Amino acid sequence: MENTNLPTHVGIIMDGNGRWAKAHGVPRVMGHNAGMQAMKKIVIASSEMGIKYLTVYAFSTENWKRSTEEVSGIFNLIVKYVNSELEELDANNVHINIFGDYSMLPKASVDAIDKMIGRLENNDGLIFNIALNYGGRDEVARSVREIAAQVAAGEKAPEDITEEDISEHLWSGSAHFNVPDVDLIIRTAGDFRISNFLLWQSAYSELAFTNTLWPDFSEEEYTSILENFGSRERRFGGRIGEDK
Ligand code: FPP
Repeated sequence: MENTNLPTHVGIIMDGNGRWAKAHGVPRVMGHNAGMQAMKKIVIASSEMGIKYLTVYAFSTENWKRSTEEVSGIFNLIVKYVNSELEELDANNVHINIFGDYSMLPKASVDAIDKMIGRLENNDGLIFNIALNYGGRDEVARSVREIAAQVAAGEKAPEDITEEDISEHLWSGSAHFNVPDVDLIIRTAGDFRISNFLLWQSAYSELAFTNTLWPDFSEEEYTSILENFGSRERRFGGRIGEDK
């Protein structure tokens, strides 16, 4: 692909699996299964294009409100994904991080995730972050608690707390996985919302929305969104051509 201006970090809100299932007259879990297939293709495409970081929203802190059947269906898909994709992810030099506390998932899912992380630990190609039991506000609250503990221990004065300190203690921060702010967030399925995804890290992100339901999202559409991103001017609050 001719794109010299690729985003370093792409985030994706993979929405529309439920609507896809409804449109095809199948159970919601089948929609998530189709969503997982789409995710597989986009991960490999990202790796082949040389995207450095990809973060997907797989399960939010709010998704626990869904039926037990649907929630356990998504967790079973994680095990299925690991079993079917681990070899290919490794062959593509993909490294995986989990953004979120996944320890309360069923044991089979936790074990599958740990196996996947361990196997891919030394890979340094695409850094694929799966946001799982993840919430942007929850992540900021966790960061603040870690900093508060440093203050309580007398290691830091409240007036010395900076934006960088808050960033550092997010899942993406240097105290955890060390992933830069997100450059581009893509949301499928027609809604114009961020839904608690990478709230702090998206302060200056470009946003791309498409009506396509996530299971129908193709490499072609992904490429065209990335090309469009390459042509945008990002000013980060400054003015074009002015460093100061
Ligand atoms: C949103 O669609 C999608 C989800 C809540 C789950 C996304 C999960 C996957 C794509 C599978 C992830 C697999 C692994 C291995 C991490 P929705 O159900 O909200 O769709 P709707 O808005 O049409 O109902």
